[in-house]
Amino acid sequence: MSYRNDPYDPKQVALLDPAALAEAVADASKAFTAAADPDALTALRPAHLGDRSPLSLARREIGALPPAAKSDAGKRVNEARRAIETAYAERAEVLEREQAERVLVEERVDVTLPYDRRPRGARHPLSALLESISDLFVGMGYEVAEGPEVDLEWVDVDALNIPAGGSPGTFHIAPQRSGLVLRPHTSTVQTRAMLSRTPPIHVIAPGRVYRTGEVDATHSPVFHQVEGLVVDRGSTMAHLRGTLDHVARALFGPEAKTRWRPHHFPFTGPSATIDVWFPEHRDGPRWVEWGGCGMVDPRVLRACGVDPDVYSGFAFGVGIDRTLMVRHGISDIRHLVEGDVRFSRALGAGA
Ligand code: PHE
Repeated sequence: MSYRNDPYDPKQVALLDPAALAEAVADASKAFTAAADPDALTALRPAHLGDRSPLSLARREIGALPPAAKSDAGKRVNEARRAIETAYAERAEVLEREQAERVLVEERVDVTLPYDRRPRGARHPLSALLESISDLFVGMGYEVAEGPEVDLEWVDVDALNIPAGGSPGTFHIAPQRSGLVLRPHTSTVQTRAMLSRTPPIHVIAPGRVYRTGEVDATHSPVFHQVEGLVVDRGSTMAHLRGTLDHVARALFGPEAKTRWRPHHFPFTGPSATIDVWFPEHRDGPRWVEWGGCGMVDPRVLRACGVDPDVYSGFAFGVGIDRTLMVRHGISDIRHLVEGDVRFSRALGAGA
């Protein structure tokens, strides 16, 4: 490096010249003032306070000065630097405050505005229960199957080995001899599942069913069942029992017990009705009828295209409305069909 003057006068070195330093300070202040927000200000820092800023370059010149001149020059550079740092900090404070104020205005929420005037609905407890039962079976490898609520008499009666005329309480669809019924049970889905699949079959069919009769606290013309059907080589009554006991424990707790009573269904044999033990029933501990089950009748398998010499099957149908009523101590089934949202909310199925 060479300098113009010898003996050395720091004031004559361009970068250390007080006027040049003052100009650097003025430039920096001006630039900082022009910055519109904290980010823009940060972006200016390298140019005015960074390694290659006029100030840093000036500081580097000091080393080359004669000792006598160093302290004077250093003081001036430091002063200039402090001035720029101060200008920076002051501007930063202003910009940060402005930004905070802007956020307060822009993101303001008027808590007095009505947020949602539509009343909130709730999941119906039956839907929630049907779903959790389906989940349970899906976890065991079952598939959820569906069938129509208005179905062919053939599907409901003939294929299920039910005597001509159908089960008592079946709604028939007009006109007479339409061949259509409102399904009185979800067993119609057994027929449809076998017709549309090849074994092994593991299906669960939750759904709405219809039956005529008095409407009272325990009878509604519309109610819900979950049907289960397994068709496989070597399926037995023991598999059926194990499956239903597992489901009962999952739904009603580890202490749940089931009781089987011999029964007759045209589409199964042997057949049974299943009761569940309810220690916490609101009228005291008792057995409550839960549904029907049995080994699929070979005539049903054959009608649905399954060879009974190769495959055997078990099926069950359980009442869901009753399950819910007993679990929650609901005394009137009409609460389940009326659709009052307060009822749904009260049973904890609120969205
Ligand atoms: N469908 C019968 C009912 O509604 C229940 C059932 C289903 C029985 C499957 C046996 C097998 O009562």
